[in-house]
Amino acid sequence: MRLTILGGGGFRVPLVYGALLGDRGAGRVTRVVLHDLDRSRLQAVTRVLHEQAAGVPDAPEVTATTDLDEALRGTDFVFCAIRVGGLQGRADDERVALAEGVLGQETVGAGGIAYGLRTVPVAAGIARRVARLAPDAWVINFTNPAGLVTEAMARHLGDRVIGICDSPVGLGRRVARVLGADPREAFVDYAGLNHLGWVRALRVAGRDRLPDLLADPDLLGSFEEGRLFGAAWLQSLGAIPNEYLHYYYFNRETVRAYQDAERTRGAFLRDQQAGFYEEMRDPDARALAAWDRTRAEREATYMAENRRTAGAGEREADDLSGGYEKVALALMRAVARDERTTLVLNVRNRGTLSALDGDAVVEVPCLVDANGAHPITADPLPDHATGLVRAVKSVERDVLDAAGSGSRATAVRAFALHPLVDSVSVARRLVEGYTAVHPGLAYLR
Ligand code: G6P
Ligand code: MN
Repeated sequence: MRLTILGGGGFRVPLVYGALLGDRGAGRVTRVVLHDLDRSRLQAVTRVLHEQAAGVPDAPEVTATTDLDEALRGTDFVFCAIRVGGLQGRADDERVALAEGVLGQETVGAGGIAYGLRTVPVAAGIARRVARLAPDAWVINFTNPAGLVTEAMARHLGDRVIGICDSPVGLGRRVARVLGADPREAFVDYAGLNHLGWVRALRVAGRDRLPDLLADPDLLGSFEEGRLFGAAWLQSLGAIPNEYLHYYYFNRETVRAYQDAERTRGAFLRDQQAGFYEEMRDPDARALAAWDRTRAEREATYMAENRRTAGAGEREADDLSGGYEKVALALMRAVARDERTTLVLNVRNRGTLSALDGDAVVEVPCLVDANGAHPITADPLPDHATGLVRAVKSVERDVLDAAGSGSRATAVRAFALHPLVDSVSVARRLVEGYTAVHPGLAYLR
């Protein structure tokens, strides 16, 4: 089985490779092809992977290339984990929005729109190449904003592209644990869009346990989302929101905190990771040790350095580092070996959520097997959630249209109609500001 990783020089690739090394089952990945535009980043990551593989029998063979077609031809799985514009781009997305007094964040609000406008044309180009060179491959998309990017790719790949995120699994696990349930035995009724979803029920042996949690303020105060949103607000909502909803429900507070901070999360990660790649210029450097040290620093700042979860207390050790590589591996195994499982994934709606059309990519529990990911019929969202989900999906559609047509007016519309952008004039200035700093937005006319 061959796996191609796009964005193969990325800092989180060793997490994926580490997960592959732990997989001893039949039909496992035996060959990994890393693709990246940046040769020196590819070399740095390849060295880390080689050190990880030392002493592991039958470790997947690793090759690296800067040629996309070569990386794709004949592959079985593609992990798409690119970052158009790099972490400097992320820092600029954050900064330009905050200067206008609106949320500057990787995937939500104005920052997420800017990131989407840069990424969609590139992701669509990749999807076209996959459709041509590896039409039977399954594409697992981690590239953010993951729901929007998956929808852009689905226009070329249909249901062969599946988007993933670690946040719904993490949330489901925390809710199960706080209720004393085994996360593996609980069915988490989670629905919405990527980074915009709610746990509406947690079923164990046929019984919904969420009401027990919502009725108990002490229990609510004992886990991360409970502290982040506050027990009273969760009781009013009657559901447990994804941590990213904090940007909506406490928008003013986050914007102010981010404006007051010394640097944004993107700027922090940019500087920190630059240190790792710089260290790797020394041919004698110990690659795995350097990577591991940088990763530990990143995790140590997970709750601080302007992350939405700051102030929510400690995150348990096994919730750190996302765990997105585990979701990716679980998905790949289910597809490759027809091992039926249930995972929360980003797929085309196909009638699952009645508020959205069939082609809209949504984030819902899916049954996964050798035929792909099949969304499980879900109860309709409550009105407050329907309102947000429809507003944000319509913004995503404007981003897709702007990326296709190059229309600046449509890009302005995307910003202006986002619930977290409070004026059309602000939207116009955001488009000015972003096109001035991002070469990847030069296509907007
Ligand atoms: C979570 C989200 C990812 C996001 C990441 C950002 O894992 O699910 O979509 O990319 O957080 O983390 P960072 O450490 O880069 O701020
Ligand atoms: Mn995510």
